[in-house]
Amino acid sequence: MKNMIKGLKKLREEKDAAGGLDKLDSRRKSGKMTARDRIEYLFDPGTFVELQSYIQHRSTNFGLDSKKYFGDGVITGFGKIHDRTVYIFSQDFTVLGGSLGEMHAMKIVNVMDLALKAGAPVIGINDSGGARIQEGISSLAGYGDIFYRNTRASGVIPQISVIMGPCAGGAVYSPGITDFIFMVQHKSHMFVTGPEVIKAVNKEEVTFDDLGGSDTHSEKSGVCHFVGSDEKNTLDMVKELLSYIPSSNLESPPAAPANDPFDRMEDKLNEIVPVNPNKPYNVKELISLIVDNGKFLEVHKGFAQNLVVGFARLGGKTVGIIANNPDIYAGTLDVNASLKGARFIRFCDAFNIPLVSLVDVPGFLPGRDQEELGIIKHGAKLLYAYSEATVPKLTLITRKAYGGAYIVMSSKHLGADIVYAWPTAEIAVMGPQGAINVIFKKDISTSEQPETLRERLIQEYKEKFANPKLPAAFGYIDDIILPTETRPLLIKALESLEHKSLENPRKKHGNIPL
Ligand code: HXC
Repeated sequence: MKNMIKGLKKLREEKDAAGGLDKLDSRRKSGKMTARDRIEYLFDPGTFVELQSYIQHRSTNFGLDSKKYFGDGVITGFGKIHDRTVYIFSQDFTVLGGSLGEMHAMKIVNVMDLALKAGAPVIGINDSGGARIQEGISSLAGYGDIFYRNTRASGVIPQISVIMGPCAGGAVYSPGITDFIFMVQHKSHMFVTGPEVIKAVNKEEVTFDDLGGSDTHSEKSGVCHFVGSDEKNTLDMVKELLSYIPSSNLESPPAAPANDPFDRMEDKLNEIVPVNPNKPYNVKELISLIVDNGKFLEVHKGFAQNLVVGFARLGGKTVGIIANNPDIYAGTLDVNASLKGARFIRFCDAFNIPLVSLVDVPGFLPGRDQEELGIIKHGAKLLYAYSEATVPKLTLITRKAYGGAYIVMSSKHLGADIVYAWPTAEIAVMGPQGAINVIFKKDISTSEQPETLRERLIQEYKEKFANPKLPAAFGYIDDIILPTETRPLLIKALESLEHKSLENPRKKHGNIPL
């Protein structure tokens, strides 16, 4: 027995050495964590349990039979984060560049299947040269098996991708299907075709960072949801995200002790909306004044900043916040904001997270480029996502709610449960200037004093529409509230809807305008 124990210990050491102690050392020296370091950092101490750690590839192509490593370049298993079970795979670049072959894929598939059966989130730490070239079609098959599972698990368990090195070629499509993608600044890269191919095909020179770095994907493409300043900071953000979301679609999000008074009145809110309706204000400050302890985990911070989305708590319960941002494009909705909002709303709805929408929207961003980019179908996604969401939906109109954008932003007409408006709310088909120019075009053009007439008509329009009294009289808003009482009223509304039960008509699936 003694010898057996000794033998197993030796085997374990060999397994833990992965692609070689020298390679692990040089990674650490270059400031990178190893696949195992990342797991250790992420999980509650002592909770990680490794699976299939002695798997090896079975390929003999191109000398691969002499390059066998226990684990085949990916560490898989489960453990606890914030005391809740989470499954993980972490690719090990020291083994054949973390490339994915048949057995490597089999390990990932195994852990994804377990996560789905167990109803627990799955995290994938990606650090890989992509399909293992020597294994050819078996590598491609492995990716296919993973994509298939990503899709089946979508909306059932949260799937989180953490890109900590290269993620290239078709390999990007597994993270692409998952709910959230994290990247590390200047360390992660994601692209379908790399700089060399682009140079050969398009004669275009582009750096790794410009093509697929965290700035590109968090600000331009919107592929990436969170960017960490370094690996540890990125993993901290993963943990923070997990603290807001449930383990599966069958659970409620985890509640936190509500140590911020439910009935906290916030006088600063009375001052936040400027008197001049054309002046912007900081919607993130508004959010932080309302939510528990001012804590807000912003998703997609750098992308489509005219719409702010993220997680917070109200009375200890997780909510998803969607807020127009008057600081950027005056808070108008465009293609990217619509995509960002729709995706976030669908995640929240899939995982039982109530929606709180803060509305200050002058309309859709006008422009030929927006039409050409398909604002019709993308704006429709936002409308669709709000309409199909059956979780509690609370809306607060702080200022402008004009035209189609009023309808889109979680109006009563799309099934919002409770809609509040501040006294500063303006709810109408369009803003005063535009409206007067349309309805009184002839009168103004034939008037002897066109400017005086225009001003008078604008004033009349404002008095009629630039306040929330008319929609309140029609029942489109439930109450006109003082800004200071927003937090207690939202919490009460949320509590009243705790057992909301609503189902969409039976269907195989809807046909969201993709
Ligand atoms: C097999 C690979 C590999 C791969 C890297 N390695 N990528 N082995 N298949 N795809 C090996 C290298 O041979 C090397 O082995 C070790 O990993 C480290 O690689 P380096 O090149 O030395 O590292 P680095 O300079 O940091 O460059 C990393 C890299 C580069 C940028 C990722 O390795 C690279 O460009 N790799 C190929 C990327 C690629 O084209 N992949 C296929 C994409 S297509 P040794 O033994 O020397 O240490 C794809 C299709 C998926 O993925 C389709 C799904 C539907």
